[in-house]
Formats: sequence, structure tokens, C-alpha cells
Amino acid sequence: MSDKMIAPDNIKDIIEINTKDSTYNVALLKDSWQCDVSAYSKVLVITNEKIAPLYLELFQTRLITQEVYAHILRDGEEFKTWDSIKQILDSAFKFKLDRKSLMIAVGGGVVSDLVGFASGIYQRGIDFISFPTTLLAQVDASVGGKCGINNEFGKNLIGLFHQPVGVFVWMGFLASLPEREKKAGIAEIIKIAACFDKKFFNDLENMDLKDKDNLTFCIFRAIKIKAKVVMEDEREKGVRAALNYGHTFGHVIELLGNYKEFLHGEAVAIGIRMANSLSLELGKMSRKVKDSIDSLLDKNDLKFSYKVANKEVFYQNFFMDKKVEFGKLRVILLRDIGEFEICSGINKTSFLKALEEWE
Ligand code: GLY
Repeated sequence: MSDKMIAPDNIKDIIEINTKDSTYNVALLKDSWQCDVSAYSKVLVITNEKIAPLYLELFQTRLITQEVYAHILRDGEEFKTWDSIKQILDSAFKFKLDRKSLMIAVGGGVVSDLVGFASGIYQRGIDFISFPTTLLAQVDASVGGKCGINNEFGKNLIGLFHQPVGVFVWMGFLASLPEREKKAGIAEIIKIAACFDKKFFNDLENMDLKDKDNLTFCIFRAIKIKAKVVMEDEREKGVRAALNYGHTFGHVIELLGNYKEFLHGEAVAIGIRMANSLSLELGKMSRKVKDSIDSLLDKNDLKFSYKVANKEVFYQNFFMDKKVEFGKLRVILLRDIGEFEICSGINKTSFLKALEEWE
């Protein structure tokens, strides 16, 4: 159904994602887009309190549908919880959505995770589409079907894989995106380039992402790389794990800051630097490569002062991560740009030594 929702003359570029059980498009939209979801019995648009006043009305005119309802969430990573899932499901029941109904996520990574999760369990699973409104959600969170919520034990520890039936990227949303959030999204672009594509990384070194055309080009280039990774390894049995580069550290930073101190992309930027310190400590990465990644992060204003208050506490928090198997932590380290390694069984002393730089 996804290829019919957006007419081809509304599209600038398109990528088809094929996984074991689904096929859908990620489309870069022209400004004049319209979305035909009239094949669905009812539509529930889910957004948050920040996005709703800016764009909910737009959706009323751009969606072609018979019956549309809205659910408005609180804004922030701290609301990526069971309670928000329950609220979405309650709305779906109240508006009597059936198995031929559709949920539409309009928002950043928090909204797309919540909607992916809620639609994945509502009446054992209904379709959802995503209109990512943040750079971070455009390049990473909304593509690939990972939907998770946080609890007191950590980030994204509860969730499922539920692929959307369409992801529609409209650059118009970025006009209202705060600069801080834009920069946070760039961290995920750098992550993807550093892990998978040396040429892309070199291009980023020579590119100003404040330029809208450059940014649009890089967003879609990052999505193309992610799409390829997801198609190869939807369930993260291998190569997809590399997308967690910087995240093992980043998730602890977010958790210890109660999800309020740093945006996800900011924590990932710090996490990338920490992972590189570990890689250097283990002799896997050269100082030259570490410096080149640091410089690219610096160039994009992704430099933060962060203090590890207690290395032992920081280390223990790694073990709440999904990347622990049989008690052993798996972490993504780079040897070179475009050359990653999934490392398991790294000794505690090396982790603590790498964290010294952050004390
Ligand atoms: N955000 C990492 C992934 O989708 O695998």
C-alpha cells in the first residue's frame, strides 16, 4: 500500500526497503506532497505537544482520508514510557480503530518509537507510517522498524521490531527544528559515515551542513546506507549492530542524566568519542583516525563537556544494555573509517582506563 500513498509527482527521491515480511518506501517529499490513506478505515495521527500547534492543521489538509483522529503526547525522551503506550492504545480503543486502521507518527524518535510499538501490539499489530520531523528521526530512528521504550533500568529495553509501511521525509519540518536538535541529528549522520562509508565521511569533512542542499543530500545518503544495513540484517544478528557505535556509552550518559541533560544525538556524539578512546586504548584505532572523527564532530559543534562522576557506576550501567549477551558486553569499535568491529569480552580495566579521560 505504501507506494500508492504518495503520488510519484510528490517525490524527489525514493528508496525501497525489503525485509523478510515487509516492503516499504522511504520517500523524500516535494513541498507540495499529499498523502492518500483512504484505503484505511480510520487514521490516528500521533504527535506531541510541540509539533501539534505547528503541523497538525497541515495534516488535516494533506491527508486524503475518510476519518482522522489525533492523539497528542508530552514532549521528551522521559515520556518514552509504558504510560505513553497505554495512552495511545486507549485513544485507539476510544476512536474504535480496527485492524484495517492506520497510525501515523508525526514527530521525532520518541514519537516514532512509541507509535511503532503501540501499532505493533494494537489488536496484534496494525500498519503505521512515519513522518519524521527531526533530523535524527529522518536519518535513523524512523527507518528500520526498531521500536522501544525506556524504563528505570535503561533505554529501549522493552520493544519490538515493527516495520512501518512508509517513511516520508519532508525537509519542511526542519524549518522549525531548533538548532540544538539539528546538530544532534548530525551526530547520527557522522556515525553512519564513520562506520560504513569512508567516501561519505571525507565528503562530510569538506561540506557545510548548514547549507540546506548539502544537508538534504546527506540525509538521504545516510538513509540509503541505513536501508542497505537493515535489508541485510533486520533483526541485528550481525552488521546492524554497527549502528550502535557510540550508543553503549551514549545510553549510559542519557540514563545517568535522567534523559534530560543531553539529547540522544548529543549523548551519541560523546559516546562516539568514548568508544574511540577505548579503541585507541586497545590499539585498534590510530590517533590519526581518532583525531579525524573528533575534528568532524567539532566542526559540527558536537563538542560537550561531560564528566564521568564515578567510573565504576558508569561501567556497571553498561550491563543494563541490550548488547549484553551471556554477561558479556558487546561494543562497536572502529579500526578505521568504514571499518568496524563488534567486540565482546573486553576487560573492565580497559573500559575504566578509557573513561579516565572523562573524569
Ligand atoms: N538506531 C539503530 C538501528 O536502527 O539499528
